[in-house]
Amino acid sequence: MNQIFITGHGGPEKLQLRESPDPSPAGGEIRIRVKASGVNFADILAREGLYPDAPRIPCVVGYEVSGVADAAGPGVDPSWVGREVFALTRFGGYSDVVIVPEKQLIPKPALLSHEQAAAIPVNYLTAWQLLVVMGSLKRDETVLIHNAGGGVGLAAIDIARHIGAKIYGTASSGKHAFLMQRGLHEAIDYRTKDWLVELKLLTGGKGVALILDPLGGNHWKKSYAALRATGRLGMYGVSVATTSKLPGPLRLLQIGLGTPFFHPLALMSANKSVFGVNLGHLRHEPEMIASWMETLMKGLADGWVRPHVDKSFPLSRAGDAHTYMEERKNIGKVVLTV
Ligand SMILES: NC(=O)c1ccc[n+]([C@@H]2O[C@H](COP(=O)([O-])OP(=O)(O)OC[C@H]3O[C@@H](n4cnc5c(N)ncnc54)[C@H](OP(=O)(O)O)[C@@H]3O)[C@@H](O)[C@H]2O)c1
Repeated sequence: MNQIFITGHGGPEKLQLRESPDPSPAGGEIRIRVKASGVNFADILAREGLYPDAPRIPCVVGYEVSGVADAAGPGVDPSWVGREVFALTRFGGYSDVVIVPEKQLIPKPALLSHEQAAAIPVNYLTAWQLLVVMGSLKRDETVLIHNAGGGVGLAAIDIARHIGAKIYGTASSGKHAFLMQRGLHEAIDYRTKDWLVELKLLTGGKGVALILDPLGGNHWKKSYAALRATGRLGMYGVSVATTSKLPGPLRLLQIGLGTPFFHPLALMSANKSVFGVNLGHLRHEPEMIASWMETLMKGLADGWVRPHVDKSFPLSRAGDAHTYMEERKNIGKVVLTV
C-alpha cells in the first residue's frame, strides 16, 4: 500500500509517500481499498506539531475515507466485501488501503461520488454536534458561523438552513457570493473588518443566540461578547495557531495566554453558556455517532445535506492539498484521491 507520512514537523515538504505491504484485517475489522480521503485542518496542525492528539511522528494522519471493502477479518459479515463504503478512521486515512472496525462502516449511497462521501463524516458530524446536539439551535434563532467557507462551515450552513435559523457567517470576502448562494443570510469579512462591530450593526446591537468558533485564543473572548442573553458559544478549534510567527510550542503558549476563562458566576449573571466539541474524543460513544449519521444520511436523501468538494488532489500531492488550504483557497472540502 501507499501512504502519506508526516516525517517531521514543519511545512508541506514533510509529507512523503511511502510504500509498504498491504495489511490484513483482524477480528471485527474490514479492509478498504480507498478511493478518496478527506483532508482536515487538524492534519495541517498535526504536520506543524500543533495538534496534541496526533500520533508520534513518523505518522499517517487522516480521519475519513471512502472506497470499496475488499477483505473481511474473522467474525465480520462477509457480505461487506465488494461493497462501496465510507468511514471515520482514527488517523491513517492518507492511504490507499485502510483497516477499520466493522461497526464504523457506512454503506455509500450510489448518488454520492467517493469524493463527496469522504467529505461527509468529520464536517457534518462536527457541525451536527455543534448546532443540534450541544447548541440546541431552533427555528428563527440567530447563529454566527465563523470560517463559514470551510468544510465544517459549509456543513453548518446546510444544517442551520434546514433548521430554519437566521445565518450569519464570517469568511474571506471572495467566498461571500458562493456562501450566500448556499444559504447564508449575512456574510461578514472578518479579515479586513471588525466582525463584532459588523454583527452588532446587523443585529440591532443584540448579538446572536449561537456562535460556532474554530479560531481560538482571544477570538473566543470576542465571540462570547457577541452572544445575546441565553446565547451559547461552541468552541471547537484553534486555527489561529497557524498564523503566529512564533516557533511550535510557543504558539500554543501565545494562544493559551489569550484564551478566556469563564467564571460560573459571570455565566449566571450574563445568561450565557459555553461548550467545547472534539469529535475525535467520541470514539467511546459509537452508538451516538451512528445515530447522528443516520439522521444525516436521511438529510442526504431528502436533499438538505449537500457535501461540496472544492478540489481533489492525487494522494501523492497531499502537500499541495495542505498548501491550498493554508493559503485559504478552499471553499468547502479538499480531498485526496487514488
Ligand atoms: N473539534 C472538532 O471535532 C473539529 C472537527 C473538524 C474541524 N475542526 C476545526 O474546525 C476548523 C475548520 O476545519 P476544516 O477542516 O473545516 O477546515 P477549513 O475551514 O476548510 O480550513 C480552511 C479555511 O480556514 C479559514 N482560516 C481561518 N483561519 C485560518 C488560518 N489561520 N490559516 C488558514 N486558514 C484559516 C480559511 O477560510 P477564510 O478564507 O474564510 O478565512 C480557510 O479557507 C479548524 O480549526 C479545525 O481544527 C474541529
